[in-house]
Amino acid sequence: LDNGLMRTPPMGWMSWERFHCNIDCENDPKNCISENLFRGMADRLAEDGWKEMGYDHVMIDDCWSSMLRDKDGRLQPDPQRFPGGIAKLARYLHNRGLKLGIYGDLGTHTCGGYPGTTLDKIETDAQMFASWGVDFLKLDGCYSNEEEQQKGYPLMSKALNATGRPIGYSCSWPAYRGGLLPSVNYTLLGEICNLWRNYDDIQDSWDSVQEITDWFFDNQEILQPGRWNDPDMVCPLSPVYMDQSRSQMALWAIMAAPLIMSNNLRTLTLSLDHGLYTKFTVYSPFLCLYVTLFFLQKRSHIEVYWRPLSQSASALVFLSRRQDMPYHYHTSLAKLNYTAGSYKAYDVFTGKTLSGLSATTEFTVSIDPSGVVMWYSFPLSTTEWQCRQRSTT
Ligand code: GLA
Repeated sequence: LDNGLMRTPPMGWMSWERFHCNIDCENDPKNCISENLFRGMADRLAEDGWKEMGYDHVMIDDCWSSMLRDKDGRLQPDPQRFPGGIAKLARYLHNRGLKLGIYGDLGTHTCGGYPGTTLDKIETDAQMFASWGVDFLKLDGCYSNEEEQQKGYPLMSKALNATGRPIGYSCSWPAYRGGLLPSVNYTLLGEICNLWRNYDDIQDSWDSVQEITDWFFDNQEILQPGRWNDPDMVCPLSPVYMDQSRSQMALWAIMAAPLIMSNNLRTLTLSLDHGLYTKFTVYSPFLCLYVTLFFLQKRSHIEVYWRPLSQSASALVFLSRRQDMPYHYHTSLAKLNYTAGSYKAYDVFTGKTLSGLSATTEFTVSIDPSGVVMWYSFPLSTTEWQCRQRSTT
C-alpha cells in the first residue's frame, strides 16, 4: 500500500498472544485488557530503550470495545476498562513518541464476540479511529464470508485513506482464505494493505514457531517494501528456552517479518532480552533487504536459510531441528552457492567477525538443539557498517 507508511516491516508490541481476552480487571488488574495495560507497556517501550530500537507501536488487539455501539452506531471502548477513552490513550502514546494500533473485525462480530465492522459500518469506524488519533488498524476477518471480505478489505483501505490520517493497515484477509494462490490475490493485497496475516495464530510453543516457519518458507509469496507477510507476533518463549527464542527472532528477521512482540515487557530480563531484540534492529536484514528469499539446504536436521541483502551482503541462518546435542555442521560458502571470492561474516549472536573466508574455506558452526547460528556475510571489500548506516537513516 503506497500510503508512505511501513517501508520497513512495522515493529512494536501487541496484546493478543500474551494477554488474549483477559477482561477480569477485578481479579487481575495488572493483566486485563485495559488502558492501564497499554499505558504500562507504552512506558516500558519509551523508558527501557525499546523505542530507540524501532519498537514504536503499541497495538490493542481484541476485547477493547464495549459490547454495544453508542446511540449513533459508533464503536466505543469498554467504559470500565478504558475510562479515559481511546483518544486520551493515543495522546499518552504520542507524547512519548509512540504510535497506537487498534483492532477491528470485518464481520458481524470480532473473533472474541465484540461488535464487528459490517460493510455499512466501514466508513463510520474508519472515521472514528482517525478521530481518536489511531495510527494502525489490524482488521480481522471472523464472521464474514468471501464476498463480504472481497468488498470490505478494499473499502476499509479507501475509508482509511479518506480520513486524511496516515493509518497503517493490516489485513487478516488471506488468513481466512487459506493464504495461498489463487484464492488470495497478493497483487491486490499489496495495493490495499501494508501487511497481512497469512496463516494461523501463533501460540507460545516451539511447535507453533516451527509450524509457522515451515508454512512461510514453503509458501513464499510477495515481499516488497510496504507489503509484508505477517507470520504473527514474536513471543520469546521464556529465558529457559533462549535458544528457541533466538531461533524465532532469526527466522522472523530473515523472513523480513514485522517484529511485533507479545510479551510482558514489565517482567523481561532486560539485559538478556534487550540483547535478543537489539541484534535484529541494528543489524536487521530487512533494513537493507532485497525482496527474494531462498531456502538453501537441509541435511542432518540442520536447515540453512539464505537471503540476499543490499551491497552484496547476505544473511544466513543455520537452524537446528535436532533434540540431541549441539551439532557441528561442516560446510563452506561455496557449498552454500556463494560465488568465488573473499568474505567476512558477522555472527549476530556472539558479535564476532570472521575475516578472510574464501568461498571454498571449510568451516564448522556449532548449533544448539532448536537453536540457530545467524551470520551476515559480506564480500571483503564491503564494510558491514554500510548496511547499518542505511538502517539508521
Ligand atoms: C484471531 C486473530 C488473532 C487475534 C484474535 C482476537 O484469532 O487471528 O490474532 O486477533 O482473533 O480474537
